[in-house]
Amino acid sequence: MAQATRRLTAILSADVAGYSRLMGDDEPGTMAALAECQSLFRRLCDATNGRIVDTAGDSVLGVFDSVADAVLCAMAAQKNLAEWNAPRPSERRMLFRVGIHLGDVFVHPDGRVYGDGVNVAARLQALAEPGGVCVSEVVHAAVGTKIPAVFEALGEQQLKNIVVPISVYRARFTADAVLPEPGPESGSMQPGPERSALVFASLLMQRLVGQVDAVARTAANVLIQGESGVGKELIARRIHEESGRFRGPFVKLDCASIPANLFEAELFGQVSGAVPGSFRDRAGRIELADGGTLLLDEVGDIPAELQAKLLGPLQDSTFERVGDSRTRRADVRFIAATSRDLVEQVSRGLFRRDLYFRLSVFPISVPPLRSRPEDIPVLVEHFLGDHVAAGLELTEAHVRHLQTYDWPGNVRELKNVVERAVILSGGGPLHLEEALPTSAFSYPARAALPEERTPARGFLTATELEAVERNSLVGAMEATGWKLSGADGAAAQLGLSVSRLKSRLKALSVVKPDPGSLYVRFGGGRGVDTFARDLFSRAVAHPTLGRFWKGRSTYGVLREERLLIAYLSSVMGGPIRYVGRDMRMAHRGLGITAADWEVFRAILTETLAALRIQDPERREVVDFAESLRADIAQG
Ligand code: HEM
Repeated sequence: MAQATRRLTAILSADVAGYSRLMGDDEPGTMAALAECQSLFRRLCDATNGRIVDTAGDSVLGVFDSVADAVLCAMAAQKNLAEWNAPRPSERRMLFRVGIHLGDVFVHPDGRVYGDGVNVAARLQALAEPGGVCVSEVVHAAVGTKIPAVFEALGEQQLKNIVVPISVYRARFTADAVLPEPGPESGSMQPGPERSALVFASLLMQRLVGQVDAVARTAANVLIQGESGVGKELIARRIHEESGRFRGPFVKLDCASIPANLFEAELFGQVSGAVPGSFRDRAGRIELADGGTLLLDEVGDIPAELQAKLLGPLQDSTFERVGDSRTRRADVRFIAATSRDLVEQVSRGLFRRDLYFRLSVFPISVPPLRSRPEDIPVLVEHFLGDHVAAGLELTEAHVRHLQTYDWPGNVRELKNVVERAVILSGGGPLHLEEALPTSAFSYPARAALPEERTPARGFLTATELEAVERNSLVGAMEATGWKLSGADGAAAQLGLSVSRLKSRLKALSVVKPDPGSLYVRFGGGRGVDTFARDLFSRAVAHPTLGRFWKGRSTYGVLREERLLIAYLSSVMGGPIRYVGRDMRMAHRGLGITAADWEVFRAILTETLAALRIQDPERREVVDFAESLRADIAQG
């Protein structure tokens, strides 16, 4: 058998926003339009030294030897498509979303292409805005450092399209073919003697820490983004500790708290008399950080007139103390952190674009606590610390309770709640519930329906519209604990009268899930969503099972994830209807063997353990999966 060859390539993956096989929108006009667009991609790809290797369905998959070529091709394609769309009626327009990633690609002698990068590009593509381009961190870094002119020329909207989604998607930035295996048991990282305490159990954080450790060993400037309280400073410390500079100083400058007139002196130092009241020479933070790392915290708060002053040190490590003409040099690695949307600041002219590019060679985005509820139990145990030994015990009920809260203040808020609870508990049992703020109770996210975007034809059918409405009602009902009336009831939240809401619920046959149903015991929409995503991402990333998705990755992977969520929600007794195929149909002909099933079973066990799902729910899920075996695996 001829061998597949392996190449490291930039991969461009595109598809029509909202188009889905499930919608059955395959009338001749749509098909002809698709073919025209695909040939446009083909032409531009040729012109930018690329090669289109797959155009199944509404998708396009191209490979390029250089990242810059892939980005240029994507830009040209979006521009040309905009022109192509302009004269057409809205239902004939084709809005492509494009994702670009760097990866190891295996090219079969018959021309087929697969590899990890293909999957990542497909996922990125789904995150791009219609008409936009979304790139992974590695591509962003490559383009940002090597050819900033490409970015500069794009204009603000395109810049936003490119940079915004990578803060959502944490693509791996190394280029080997297989995603890292989740660590044994939980990834909880206990504070070692020389390491900062990063405590987590979620796959999301495991991946993030993998990236953090990898970038730590490079010299790249890092931009850490995330809501306040997520632990950006801890991540910065971790980068310092894992870098070759770990013996040097770690210095922090809180840009938000320094008055503008003192900022320069604080950063660069000063000679005596330069600033009123200063009588001696003083080194600034940059000098103090020589040989180590300087964290510019809340970098988005640096006043506009001072931003330019940072460019020099970032470019060639030189600076001058205030009042001194001597140029000094400091060997410093810069890490910037912000809870602001810097790209938006750039587009509004509040933050210098050149400074943004220098700081964000490697952007890292720390997810909010509500999107990683699996971290809550290990964090609480960590914050309880010695109190656990003193008899304060964390129960399963506590954990569930905490996991339904939205945590607007993130890990910092959780820490405060635990501290408050310890005080409230006196010598008795742990009083976590009382320590929680009462107003912001329980915000479970709804489970996603299979398809929510506007389809290629430009409008929703009555059935689709109904599904969207139904999903929204379910979301509101879950968020309010199925309470209809009152200020905190679903009707008020939705802006409907109670009688109108009642009649819509009836018309759409939304029923409150049985409190004893697995759906509810799993934490409603959000619980099922977390579980299904975790399970699915393990399966897709698995070296053995991953092969089932490799060929179809350009268009199917994300939709399948949504289908799995919808399917699990409905069989677990949730108010979500499953609109996909039956199990036997979906898996027929895939050639899933008994050995594959064993792997799947192990992945399921891992997921249940990582999410700390206990009996009886664990047992029920395992039994349910076994009941599907005959439909899914052959032999
Ligand atoms: C060894 C285990 C499994 C493997 C390798 C596997 C693989 C796949 C693949 C490759 C597809 C895409 C089929 C296509 O688009 O043509 C698929 C679809 C799907 N799978 Fe699985 N699967 C496995 C187990 C399961 C289990 C246990 C469930 C349910 C709990 C499940 C639920 C689904 C759903 C809902 C779809 C989408 C069906 C549709 O297109 O309407 N799978 N699976």
